[in-house]
Amino acid sequence: MEKKIFEQMVKDAAASGNFLQKLLPFLKEHRKEKLPVIWIETNDSGDNNISLMNSTFPYLGQIFDDLIDLLYSNTMMAAQGKDAVFILEQAAKKYSGRYTLVVEGAVPVRDNGLYNIIYKTEQGDVTALEAVRELGKTAKYVVAAGTCASFGGPSAARPNITGSMSVQAVLPREVIRVSGCPINPDWLVGTLAHLLLYGRPELDDQGRPVLFYGFTIHRHCQRRSYFDTGNLADSLGDIRCMFSQGCMGPVTFADCPYRQWVDHINWPVKASTPCIGCTNPDFPDGSTPFFTPMPQKGPNELGPQTGGKNNE
Ligand code: SF4
Ligand code: F3S
Repeated sequence: MEKKIFEQMVKDAAASGNFLQKLLPFLKEHRKEKLPVIWIETNDSGDNNISLMNSTFPYLGQIFDDLIDLLYSNTMMAAQGKDAVFILEQAAKKYSGRYTLVVEGAVPVRDNGLYNIIYKTEQGDVTALEAVRELGKTAKYVVAAGTCASFGGPSAARPNITGSMSVQAVLPREVIRVSGCPINPDWLVGTLAHLLLYGRPELDDQGRPVLFYGFTIHRHCQRRSYFDTGNLADSLGDIRCMFSQGCMGPVTFADCPYRQWVDHINWPVKASTPCIGCTNPDFPDGSTPFFTPMPQKGPNELGPQTGGKNNE
């Protein structure tokens, strides 16, 4: 099956809001085996795996049945303690060079990573820093799930007392960044499906899949006509453009306006709250104070921004 058909399906399904529903029959027809995944959760709030668990049409079980062979997850697996560590070691050995490492969370580096212990062995504690570096060596792909893993995110926000950093900052190899706080389930599932079917997806200059982060929120926002005519909201709840209320849509890359959230029915601006730029490399420090217009906050200014191809 042509890669272009997959990419078109991602776009069409975003518009009709049923990407995952279309993806699974496609995978059943074209895949030979599932994608082996080792998922470790580090310094974060757990929001990304919760977001993934909220997948509907299909449900999480179907994703595990047809797309992901989840070998280890310190959040989602039933095994605990020594049994879980044994499973991890066996999986990393058996699937060496073939598994995809998904890291959810930033990596604390202060005091040799002491502030995030992933598991304990008889030889001592294993920090997130050690686990990410070790598992990253033998993974086929490394995927950062969420803005903490992708860029540091809230875990690395001021004053960042744990010295948290992105996965890319501690790993000398390519990391595919699926940013968002949290991620939309489609962004991660679509990226993993691409890895399974076609390998590495095209990435933007921040290492994010262009399929999902190719355009700004602003480009496809339903309130764009208000912005273009200078019709700005006087307060939250006003139906007009929320640039005046601190919307970061003009400098934020993601497909929220047409993919949408909560079973593909709503997204921040549609729910009358400004985009707070949760997929951005400088989130949240660059977005705060929230609900304050851009020129008055953080280091951000309107103008050329990092990210996707079409900064409009
Ligand atoms: Fe939409 Fe925000 Fe852009 Fe206004 S500034 S058009 S609310 S994305
Ligand atoms: Fe995040 Fe903005 Fe979308 S806050 S969820 S990128 S609308």
